[in-house]
Amino acid sequence: MQEKVYIFDTTLRDGEQAPGFSMNVDEKVKLALHLQRLNVDCIEAGFAITSEGDFEAITEVSKALKGPEVASLARVREKDIDRAWAALKYAKKPRIHVFIATSDIHMKHKLEMEEDEVLEAAVKGVEYACKYTNNVEFSAEDATRTRPEFLAKVCKSVIKAGAKAVNIPDTVGYTTPEEFSKLITYLKDEIKNKAIISVHCHNDLGLGVANSLAAVKAGARQVECTINGIGERAGNASMEELVMIINTRKDLFNFKTDINTKHIYPTSRALSLITGVQVQPNKAIVGKNAFAHEAGIHQDGVMKEKSTYEIMKPEDIGLPSNELILGKHSGRHALRNKLEALGYQYSDEEIDKLFKKFKALADKKKEIYDEDLEMLVAAELFTMEEKYKLLSANFSGGTDVLPSATIEIEVDGKGFKEEGSGDGPVDAIYDAIRKVVPDKVRIDRFSISAITGGSDAQGEVTVFIEEDGIGSVGRAAKTDIVIASAEALVNALNRLVLKKKMKEKKEYGV
Ligand code: KIV
Ligand code: ZN
Repeated sequence: MQEKVYIFDTTLRDGEQAPGFSMNVDEKVKLALHLQRLNVDCIEAGFAITSEGDFEAITEVSKALKGPEVASLARVREKDIDRAWAALKYAKKPRIHVFIATSDIHMKHKLEMEEDEVLEAAVKGVEYACKYTNNVEFSAEDATRTRPEFLAKVCKSVIKAGAKAVNIPDTVGYTTPEEFSKLITYLKDEIKNKAIISVHCHNDLGLGVANSLAAVKAGARQVECTINGIGERAGNASMEELVMIINTRKDLFNFKTDINTKHIYPTSRALSLITGVQVQPNKAIVGKNAFAHEAGIHQDGVMKEKSTYEIMKPEDIGLPSNELILGKHSGRHALRNKLEALGYQYSDEEIDKLFKKFKALADKKKEIYDEDLEMLVAAELFTMEEKYKLLSANFSGGTDVLPSATIEIEVDGKGFKEEGSGDGPVDAIYDAIRKVVPDKVRIDRFSISAITGGSDAQGEVTVFIEEDGIGSVGRAAKTDIVIASAEALVNALNRLVLKKKMKEKKEYGV
């Protein structure tokens, strides 16, 4: 009989708080719907007290979800817990996740509290949260650098106070599988089966997944993880790796998860599309090369018998085939079917909208690939207030002419015509756009990549901008890379406006 390992997804909280990964409320809801399709057990949607944006995201995710539990993080303070509960008002299955640090280093330097005070605060916090719900999780931050006897004492006390799950985070990614296994074995022996033991492993030494699995073998039954392994610093344990290891090595892991693995790839792609951060090509499970066999000897082996070099089937993670699929004669039905195969479900109304965009693209481009469709979906995933609206952009240049550009743009509804010049057409168009943008806005990084083959390939442009320490990423894809570059910058500017508004409302940053 295989025991179940619960999947607690923190992509929208720990993942989202990493630089470059922030999402607005709409984007969080869209990703939460993907996580629901994956069938995760619990979604941590944010840290309610930290900002209006987090509060609203938890509220909207709670309204949108039917299956998974929804959690909000909170310190063990009444004000935090009240806010978490208020944000979870619409959740069908709410969970309050309270935490306080328990290691000597954190208690002394950060909290300036003694062990007894931390213990008391932890118990009081759990008792207070239990007034709202019996679904309370407690985390001992920096648990792996905590004195084990004190950690056990805290865990036992909060369980007595009502905690259903005790989470043992490797907050700084410091432990190793052997050491962590010993710690979990010890805690399991102390706690018995009075609460579920959860683990939350960071990846600073590249051991997040290995440590989580060692903990599962030692008695933990919940893992906290993120899509694509995103999270603070080097990230968290990656969900797709954890799940596929458990599934692929059944001989070693007599466990199961409820994850519908066919939604792994679409969810990973949706996250990349929303944040503009691509996964490295050689990333396990979801990297571009994870199922690509390049060496002749490997290709030959796979053609004769897949199992020679493939330990997992690409279709098990929902990897779409790269074959040519749709063209300008394809209808709505074909589009809907293909989108569903890629893991995207849309209402009739949404399909109508997407279909119009699809037809416009098909008129320009003979062959529509899966990646092209994903770009259409990306445009739907990106939602924001539109302070800047690019109405037209024209450019000229060549070997003998200085590149120049003219644009028409609306800023807060007011129209401007600007001219620019530069080292190339993109530089010239950016020069023109910059004339309607505050000087403080800096372009940090810019990249173009071809997302399909052929000289009519769509160019995917990603641009990172920054103002007063607030970063924003914009993306656009088009067969014309100069126009895509202009649209990506405008996209980044609109996202920056939204992020600045959210920052203004921030009360507390973690
Ligand atoms: O890494 C950590 O310790 C955390 C806790 C708040 C669970 O993210
Ligand atoms: Zn963490």
